[in-house]
Amino acid sequence: MSRPQLIINPRCIGLHLHYARLGHSLLDHGMCRSCFTVSVASSTQSTPLVAHAANTEYSCGALLNNQTDLNYRDHSVAYLNRISFQLRRPLSTTPIMSKAHPDFEQLQASRPDFRHDAEVIVSKSPNPTWKQGDGANDGGESLKKEHVEIDPYADGRPVASNYKLLISGMVPRPISLISTQSADGKTTNLAPFSYSQIVNHDPPMFVVGFVGSLEKAKDTLKNLNETKECVINIISEHFLEAANSTSINAPYGHSEWEVSGLTQGPTSVVKPARVKESIFAVEGKLVEVKEFESRANPGQPSSVLAIIEGVRFWVREDAIDKDQSVIDLEVLKPISRLGGISYGRTTDVIEIPRPQF
Ligand SMILES: Cc1cc2nc3c(=O)[nH]c(=O)nc-3n(C[C@H](O)[C@H](O)[C@H](O)COP(=O)(O)O)c2cc1C
Repeated sequence: MSRPQLIINPRCIGLHLHYARLGHSLLDHGMCRSCFTVSVASSTQSTPLVAHAANTEYSCGALLNNQTDLNYRDHSVAYLNRISFQLRRPLSTTPIMSKAHPDFEQLQASRPDFRHDAEVIVSKSPNPTWKQGDGANDGGESLKKEHVEIDPYADGRPVASNYKLLISGMVPRPISLISTQSADGKTTNLAPFSYSQIVNHDPPMFVVGFVGSLEKAKDTLKNLNETKECVINIISEHFLEAANSTSINAPYGHSEWEVSGLTQGPTSVVKPARVKESIFAVEGKLVEVKEFESRANPGQPSSVLAIIEGVRFWVREDAIDKDQSVIDLEVLKPISRLGGISYGRTTDVIEIPRPQF
């Protein structure tokens, strides 16, 4: 079977092409460096570059250090006809943007402005005349397509591919902007987590997944595990940039409240502050943590699940109905997490009654 090939015009990567950018470019096309071999064709000579490896995530430096790369450096962009990437397996060519996208500012500038006046539109369902037994509403179109079977731990498949696949496929996800404080009460912390979900209402139960281990815990997990307290704040459109900024990899003890410019609001059952800008916040107490072992590196803890009970709710006055039971979507304007660095807004709603047997 011939290998799929993606050809990128060198000019797309930039006139001052160098290896670091080449590496970024591959990542932007959803590829990990362990998934491709590179060959560069110039008008003067064809120089094969081999830049693949078994399981390791290659840094740009690794590409630079590859001996065959040196040949490539001698060519000026003018002589380059094409750069082709021989993929070791088919991968999506849909760009998954990383923060390191070299042309992100340019790309962002070319996009339309945020539609502040976007209203929530409730439409009919795709097939309003659907009846029991009708199946999918696409007339069988989806059945004409084949599926690709993926073993998450297939030989040579990097763990990063599972991460990208899962966060782009399990969408949209709610984002918990979690506020905690240290056991001695001296430092505060705020960070977003989208491996998060409500799992029950009586008692109100929430789960949050932390990448890493209890020993090398993210600041939020360290504080949560030590104090057993947190506040889960739901992110709304009006403070998206500030919420995103709290994902900064600040050292322990450095407060993301300052980085974000968000405002601390009072809480009553737990010590950490809630985000005052947040329309909906939940004071939470830690019920349990469970550490998971990596399959890629057996014996190594790789993630921690925290189960949190909600003990107090805070809802902005104009978002709650008179029974204090329903939050108005038009006021909440929730932001969800999609794949890569994409966020989603919820402005398109469909209502369908539940069936009765
Ligand atoms: C929208 C968004 C969602 C995120 N979700 C998670 C997640 O579910 N689990 C995780 O471990 N990290 C997640 N992160 C990364 C953390 O926010 C990031 O590592 C942060 O620096 C952790 O901060 P802390 O060390 O102060 O707790 C997410 C980042 C963003 C921007």
